[in-house]
Amino acid sequence: MEPLGLNEIRERYLSFFESKGHLRLPSFSLVPQNDPSILLINAGMTPMKPYFTGAETPPRKRVTTCQKCIRTPDIENVGHTSRHGTYFEMLGNFSFGDYFKDEVIPWAWEFLTQNLEIEPEKLYPSVFEEDDEAFAIWRDKIGIPEERITRLGKEDNFWEHGTGPCGPCSEIYFDRGIEHGCGKPDCKPGCECDRFVEIWNLVFSQFDRQEDGSYLPLKQKNIDTGAGLERVACVMQGVDNLFEVDTVRKILDTVCNIAGKTYHANHDDDVAIRVITDHMRSSTMMISDGVLPSNEGRGYVLRRLMRRAARFGRLLGIERLFLTEVAEVVIDQNKDAYPDLAARHDYIMKIIALEEEAFHRTVAAGTEILNEMIENAKKEGKAELAGEDAFKLHDTYGFPLDLTKEIAKDAGLSVDEEGFKTSMKKQKDAARAATKEKVDTAWGGTALPSEVTADTSVTEYLGYDSLDCDAKILHIIKKDEEGNLFSEDEAVSGDEVIIILGKTTA
Ligand code: SER
Repeated sequence: MEPLGLNEIRERYLSFFESKGHLRLPSFSLVPQNDPSILLINAGMTPMKPYFTGAETPPRKRVTTCQKCIRTPDIENVGHTSRHGTYFEMLGNFSFGDYFKDEVIPWAWEFLTQNLEIEPEKLYPSVFEEDDEAFAIWRDKIGIPEERITRLGKEDNFWEHGTGPCGPCSEIYFDRGIEHGCGKPDCKPGCECDRFVEIWNLVFSQFDRQEDGSYLPLKQKNIDTGAGLERVACVMQGVDNLFEVDTVRKILDTVCNIAGKTYHANHDDDVAIRVITDHMRSSTMMISDGVLPSNEGRGYVLRRLMRRAARFGRLLGIERLFLTEVAEVVIDQNKDAYPDLAARHDYIMKIIALEEEAFHRTVAAGTEILNEMIENAKKEGKAELAGEDAFKLHDTYGFPLDLTKEIAKDAGLSVDEEGFKTSMKKQKDAARAATKEKVDTAWGGTALPSEVTADTSVTEYLGYDSLDCDAKILHIIKKDEEGNLFSEDEAVSGDEVIIILGKTTA
């Protein structure tokens, strides 16, 4: 087995399945099309759900892809361990009512043992406990001794993600060696320890999970396989985790260079270095796919990722704007597989720079005040930051609650979120009462930010003499996720804003 780069593995996989009659499709966008059940594509098969259900006809019955994926449920763990990441690529080969278990198992074995030349003794399959058919294929067709095939329950070996196509699966594990194990006598694939790592999931997709949790048989039997590219690369490169994989390590090294830090010298620095590396991989890919930072939906996921990356940069002691420099390396490492990255290079850089600048301004104002609040709370012997304080930061400085929570947590304090909500409600009620007293306004009953109400300048009306005019924007007003209005310094395409102009003809 020779060490192979991540880009080389991707290419080998896709070519291998082309040689088995598959059509190679480019990765679908991270933004799901016509699928309200998810914010972002989270698995290789997700964009192809309509092909599995039979709702749409695929361009060929055999397809292979390497799909960009983002999973964010454990965003706060990212960095703290080297296992978690939000962005990954998933290699997959798919059959839409064409081949099934008898073909896919031997092909997976052939690719791993002959193309990648992984020693067969290091590979262990698992099957769903009731799936005698898959068990027999591994034993009789491939020749794996029975004691090396593990039967696992629904939790491990039945794949489903929300509603839609799903089914029993067979996973292939790589044995990293006894030295990585827990030492328990029953340690085997499926064990929580670090010895056996799952590298490929072969899903025999034959059911359609309904909203009510029931399963209907699909019209056709399908195959959906998913092999995490970074995981396969770890195996091929003999490294421990995704941050050590060649292309990812280049990004990580760039972060270290910018910060003047050495990886593995200090735990807290390592956390920050990993957060920035992972989050800038996700962010660059999301922006390239058209997501813009905003306060809701996937735009909020992006904003959160970028703001976390920016904040951890400050924790590393980076004072200047630096995220575009990291994004340059992300683009460089990925542009051959994802040509959109090069084509949209300037646009991606612009969005990143704007968001980082906006964040710096917010943080500069908010952090100082938050630190004071934290100090005072500590002096008073409190283990919790008052909800009112967190709300003040949010309301007056646009300082996001999740950031307050993280900074407070680093200082050993929790945040009274109930109190935060109460303050929010109080403010809303007061704003509503205040607007009732005023004449009807165009702001939908929500109070204008104080910067606007304190501004005594007026909009000059030129409509008696002209139909158009040049005007300066005096205020940009946005709405946060609670519907409150706040002032912003800039807006980018896609933002919903109210603007107040110095002159108007309308
Ligand atoms: N859908 C399966 C997974 O994501 C295989 O592609 O693991």
